[in-house]
Amino acid sequence: MAIWNLGSVNIDHVYHLDRLPHPGETLAAQRYAQGLGGKGANQSVAAARAGAVTRHLGAMGAGDAWVAARLQDSGVDVSGIARLDDQVTGHAIILLDRDAENSIVIHPGANRAVSEAALSDALAAMTPADTLLLQNETNGQVAAARAAAVQGARVIYSAAPFDLDAVRAVMPHVAILAMNEGEAEQLFSGVPGDLPVQGLLITRGAEGAEYRCLTTGQVFSQPSFKVSPVDTTGAGDTFTGYFAAALDQGADIAGALRLASAAAALKVTRAGTGDAIPTRAEVDAFLAAQSA
Ligand SMILES: Nc1ncnc2c1ncn2[C@@H]1O[C@H](COP(=O)(O)OP(=O)(O)O)[C@@H](O)[C@H]1O
Ligand SMILES: [Mg+2]
Repeated sequence: MAIWNLGSVNIDHVYHLDRLPHPGETLAAQRYAQGLGGKGANQSVAAARAGAVTRHLGAMGAGDAWVAARLQDSGVDVSGIARLDDQVTGHAIILLDRDAENSIVIHPGANRAVSEAALSDALAAMTPADTLLLQNETNGQVAAARAAAVQGARVIYSAAPFDLDAVRAVMPHVAILAMNEGEAEQLFSGVPGDLPVQGLLITRGAEGAEYRCLTTGQVFSQPSFKVSPVDTTGAGDTFTGYFAAALDQGADIAGALRLASAAAALKVTRAGTGDAIPTRAEVDAFLAAQSA
């Protein structure tokens, strides 16, 4: 019973400006913040804070020790993150104007230079009780999904950032596809007809989430908890990490949806991504207050 996560590790550089620069223009930022990001790292933090044994697989540059330390502080096993001398750690340059409009540049760096041989070696230790998480920000997705499926493990793929060719290639090895509403629309129009997976996890922002079991046709719906949103970045990753951890701990679908929805609701009340993902104690207290 462990969660393995082949995922991106990014440094988010956030610059606050009055307005976004025009081409050729230089502007000084008013404020700068640096944080842990990447869909992969966020999902690992969420799964670990949810209480699951979580092993991150991926790659970073040789420096940036604080990034791995922060993952470790959240309870993530980072021994499967390779440190590459010839690559920089993945990062995002995020420009935010006064109205929270943004322009973002992402450099994948080491996230796209993961050794597939190392992945296969690591994943050979998976058991049928384990879960592999994947998103579309690293290389090696198909090799990893195949290796996990061969071991009989549950494979959960976040089709994000959405790419039709990527999801098509990995889908034969996937049990659960996780998507937000926009990604689900792109998938349904790109792959009409039956999908070769067991279930679809579809999140709809403030509208809630649903799980469609494709083997029984059963649909589980989970409304969102009412909160005042501050920053919705990372809501989906918090949801997916918590959902996977709950299933790993033996929860049923309805229970996993409720826990994940509470965790994501708490996340959107806080600024930031990886660092803003709530702990299990915080989520349990939030749920207890709802039913009180
Ligand atoms: N405004 C909100 N209020 C409460 N919960 C929210 C809100 N926005 C997102 N969530 C929670 O986060 C989940 C994922 O959000 P969503 O926007 O669908 O994903 P993504 O971050 O991938 O775009 C939702 O299903 C919901 O549980
Ligand atoms: Mg969204």
